[in-house]
Amino acid sequence: MAQWGSGQTTRYLVLLAQEHLEFRLPEIKSLVSLCGVKFCREEELALNSPFWILNLPSEELAKRVMKRTVCAKSIFELWGHGKSVEELCCSLKTYSVDKMAPYLQSNSTYKIRVHAFNKTLTQEEKVQKIDFLEFLPFKGKVNLKNPDHIFWLLEDYGMNPNKIPEKPLNLYFGRWIANGQRDLIESYSVKRRHFIGNTSMDACLAFIMANHGKIKPNDVVFDPFVGTGGLLIASAHFGAYVCGTDIDYSTIHGLGKPSRKNQKWRQPDENIRANLRQYGLEKHYLDVLVSDASKPIWRKGMQFDGIITDPPYGIREASRRIGSPKEMAKVTGKSTENHVSNPSAYHLSDILFDLLKFAAEYLVIGGRLVYWLPVYKPEYTEEIIPRHPCLKLISNCEQTLSSHTSRHLITMEKVKEFEDEDRDSCILDSQYLLYKSHNSFREKYFSGVTKRIAKEEKDSQK
Ligand SMILES: C[S@@+](CC[C@H](N)C(=O)[O-])C[C@H]1O[C@@H](n2cnc3c(N)ncnc32)[C@H](O)[C@@H]1O
Repeated sequence: MAQWGSGQTTRYLVLLAQEHLEFRLPEIKSLVSLCGVKFCREEELALNSPFWILNLPSEELAKRVMKRTVCAKSIFELWGHGKSVEELCCSLKTYSVDKMAPYLQSNSTYKIRVHAFNKTLTQEEKVQKIDFLEFLPFKGKVNLKNPDHIFWLLEDYGMNPNKIPEKPLNLYFGRWIANGQRDLIESYSVKRRHFIGNTSMDACLAFIMANHGKIKPNDVVFDPFVGTGGLLIASAHFGAYVCGTDIDYSTIHGLGKPSRKNQKWRQPDENIRANLRQYGLEKHYLDVLVSDASKPIWRKGMQFDGIITDPPYGIREASRRIGSPKEMAKVTGKSTENHVSNPSAYHLSDILFDLLKFAAEYLVIGGRLVYWLPVYKPEYTEEIIPRHPCLKLISNCEQTLSSHTSRHLITMEKVKEFEDEDRDSCILDSQYLLYKSHNSFREKYFSGVTKRIAKEEKDSQK
C-alpha cells in the first residue's frame, strides 16, 4: 500500500454531511485505503463538526474518494484557513502562488460561493464577504453560470443553534474539486423500491456499509441474512456480483403479506432480482437461496470478497434456525427433508459466533465483514464486541435506537488464513459468557420500550 511523506501531500477540506456522524471518518478512511493509500496524517476532527482537513497525495485520489462517499458532501483543495478573517487572510497570503496560478489565469472564468454552517447569511452579506477576497490575484472573468473554477469560502459558526456567534469560529477558503454521492440516498430510497420488507435497510446506511466493506467492481459479496436484499443493492451499485441466503422461504420468493400500507398482496415479481433490475443492476445478481446461516452450504475453498449483513435481532424479524432432523421428527413425527419447516430458536450469541467463524473461513485475505451488533447501552463495554483470531476490528460505529438501546456497525478485516484450529478455538470461555449476554437483547429492548410507553402515558396524564 502506497504511503507518502508530508512534503508530497496537498491539504484538502472535506465538507461532511451532518448525519450518521460516527460513520463518516471510518467511511472516508476505508475509501482512501480502497484506493491503495494508507493514511499518514490527519487533522483532528472536532467532535460532530462538518469540516475535516486531511492530507492526500493527489487530486485524483480526492476525486476517487468522492465518487464513492455518501457521508461527505464535497471536497476542496484548501488554500487557507483561520479562526478569524485576519488569520484566513494571512494563511491565504502564504499559500504557494505556483499552486494557485493555474486556476487564476486571465483566459479562465471563475465564481466564488459562500457557505455558512449554523447561520443563514443574506445575499448582501455574502457579496461583502466575496468582495473582501479581492486581494487574491484573480485574473480571469467571473462567470456565475458555467465557470471553469469554483472557489468556496466556508464559515463555521459552531454547533449550537441556540448560541450562534456573531463572527465565525473557523473560516476556510479553497478550490472545489468534487461532490460526494449524497444523491444516491434519494435515488435508491426504500420508499420507491419495488420489493421491501419490515427490515429493509435504509439506502444511506446500505451504501455506508458497502463503503466500510471496501466493496469494489467484480467483487463477490455475500449476505447470509439477505431479507429483501437491501445490502446487495448497494454492493451491486459499486460493481460487485451479489448473492445471499435467508431462512425465510416467503422472503426469498417474494410471497406473503406486503409491508406497504394499502397493498393487500405482493406483485408476482416482487423479489430481489426485480429490485436489482429496477436500478439497472440485474447483471450483478448471482442468486439468492433459502438456507439457514447456522448450517453453511458452501464448498470448502469458496471465497467471498465481502460479507455485508444485518443479522436478525428478533425485534422485527424472526431469528431462527433449522432444528436437528431428530428434534424435528420428535415434534412432527415425520422425516423433514423440505426447507425450514421446524425452526428452533437461534440465539444472538450463536448467530454472532457462527457469523465470525464463517467470515474467518470464507473471506479472502483483506476481505471485510460488516455487520450490525445490537447493544443494550447500560451494559455496553468494548469487550462485548465479538472477536476472532483471523479478523481484525477496523471500526465500531454506534447508531442510537432509543435511550437504552443502540446498534453498532462492526467492520472487521480478515488478516490471517483460517486453519482448522481456528474452527472452534475462536472464543475464550470468558468471551463466550459475554456473547451470551447478547441473548437477552430482545427482552431488554422490549422492557425498555414498555417502561418508556408507561412513562409517556404517566407524563401525559400529569
Ligand atoms: C434484519 S433482516 C435483514 C434485512 C435485509 N438487510 C434487508 O435489507 O431486507 C434479517 C433476516 O434474517 C433472516 N434469518 C433469520 N434467521 C436466519 C437464519 N438462521 N439463517 C438465514 N437467515 C435468517 C430473517 O428471515 C430476515 O429476513
